[in-house]
Amino acid sequence: MLKIAVFASGRGSNLQAIIAAVKSGELPAEICLVISDREDAKALSRAEEAGIANKFIDPGRFQDQAEYEKALIAELNKAEIELIVLAGFMRILSPDFVGKYENKIINIHPSLLPAFQGLQAQKQALECGVRYSGCTVHFVDEGIDTGPIILQAVVEVSEDDGVEELADRILKEEHRIYPRAIKLIAEDRVKIEQGRVFIEDDSKAVNNVNNPGPAAVPSPQR
Ligand code: GRF
Repeated sequence: MLKIAVFASGRGSNLQAIIAAVKSGELPAEICLVISDREDAKALSRAEEAGIANKFIDPGRFQDQAEYEKALIAELNKAEIELIVLAGFMRILSPDFVGKYENKIINIHPSLLPAFQGLQAQKQALECGVRYSGCTVHFVDEGIDTGPIILQAVVEVSEDDGVEELADRILKEEHRIYPRAIKLIAEDRVKIEQGRVFIEDDSKAVNNVNNPGPAAVPSPQR
């Protein structure tokens, strides 16, 4: 069973969706650890309620980011973590950390990347006047919201939407695709070639929001 750690700074609704998918048997993974950089993160109490080991690691206790990340690595090693799932984790991980866990860290972002990277993606989408936005699960590389894209889901933007309405509609899709992306990784179906993700054996078509079936899945160019 794939051993995952979830890093979260706040509300933890994506964590909750992942917990639910594990509980229902839909997601063949074990959430071994939840780590937060905020003591008051709701994600920690959600983990506690679900009986999952959880830890507040206070970045303020360390002299620099390298020391803080050493503490993270120690916890990850102890729990033999194979995949780090960022779910609303509001800190940027150093290139050293990301390099150590190459293709072993994933993130969810509330826009159709590469559009609207960074903070307040939903607000950026509204201000730009796009008709569609959505969410993206991607591997984490050294950039911000730039790694290889695993799954995306699209939502329509209504002219009456405020940031909250749009964020809520996107969040529902986040809860749907994040557990699916982890499942694909747990099933060892996600391959990366030249910065692009290819999903092997897509006959179940669980990956794509538009459910295109096998024919629409690109094969690696050789
Ligand atoms: C989500 O919108 C996610 O896309 C972004 O941070 C938010 C986390 O929400 N990275 P939650 O803590 O999972 O409820």
